[in-house]
Amino acid sequence: MKLFSMCRMVLSAGSRYATEILLTGLLTISQMFALPVVAAGFAEAEAPTILITGANASHGLAFAEEYAALGWNVIATCRTPAKADRLNSLAADYPNVIIEELDIVDDVQITALADKYRDTSIDVLMNNAAINTFRFGPNRFGRIDYEWFEEILKVNIIGQLKVSEAFQEHVEASKQKKIISMTSTGGSIADVKVPIAVAYRASKAGLNMAMRTYSIALKSKGIIVGIIAPGTVDTEDYMNAEDPSAVPSNYRNMIKAGRLAPRTAIDDMIALIDRLTLEDSGVYYEWTGKVLPW
Ligand SMILES: NC(=O)c1ccc[n+]([C@@H]2O[C@H](COP(=O)([O-])OP(=O)(O)OC[C@H]3O[C@@H](n4cnc5c(N)ncnc54)[C@H](OP(=O)(O)O)[C@@H]3O)[C@@H](O)[C@H]2O)c1
Repeated sequence: MKLFSMCRMVLSAGSRYATEILLTGLLTISQMFALPVVAAGFAEAEAPTILITGANASHGLAFAEEYAALGWNVIATCRTPAKADRLNSLAADYPNVIIEELDIVDDVQITALADKYRDTSIDVLMNNAAINTFRFGPNRFGRIDYEWFEEILKVNIIGQLKVSEAFQEHVEASKQKKIISMTSTGGSIADVKVPIAVAYRASKAGLNMAMRTYSIALKSKGIIVGIIAPGTVDTEDYMNAEDPSAVPSNYRNMIKAGRLAPRTAIDDMIALIDRLTLEDSGVYYEWTGKVLPW
């Protein structure tokens, strides 16, 4: 395990809550009753809890791996748990990882999962799942596939917002109170220079607006809404591959062009999420911590 992760584990692990109570003696009885309640099944009842959508692949899986190693309770959701081999392996290695089925545009599933975890406080709700596409054909003026466009808006904007609203009370009951949205630099209206990926860009710009507005609605509840563009992260750590010839050619090209952020960008985002305060709520951040123009 990386030194960074080990240090964070010490700082973040659940015993922090108990230690704070003992050392400061500042908590009132009512605050103590507001401490996280975690569903049976997790190894560390006092550890902070994160729920991640789309945790079976790429960024979502990388976040699940890192938070699991940090000792958090991880509710790793995905559309098809039976096919999520790597997530299943992670859960086999870490008792603090629970896999749940969740399609973020399935109202019945969203409601059922929120109900199942109604007694669990969720410190960080990570809205990671999305249709992540810069595909040229159906995304190009003159050839737009409008049904596909609608699906992208539904998943990337409405799905994230519905999941957030469904789990809002779980987040409000937690200590850290954070709802994080994975957006994209492609959602920056100020930054559009080439006429590509209109559906994806529109979905992320719309998501930014939805989450910015939501952040204002949630401020009085103390809930922080983080809007973070993760960049294209080398989640497989191809940059450090022992056998560079085994790296897929598209990744080799991205590495050569400097268009891939290192795997450590996941750690950087975890650190960014960790230091977000209410003042950062509704601010559009890049994974580096730079504030992006809308
Ligand atoms: N990779 C990038 O370059 C990049 C850049 C900027 C922003 N982002 C953003 O970062 C986040 C993660 O991207 P990624 O690269 O990890 O994308 P990815 O590899 O395409 O993975 C997308 C994830 O979302 C899930 N998903 C899609 N539709 C869903 C639905 N209706 N319900 C539940 N899950 C659903 C997928 O599940 P299935 O496996 O079942 O399809 C998959 O787990 C996204 O929000 C993306 O827009 C990525």
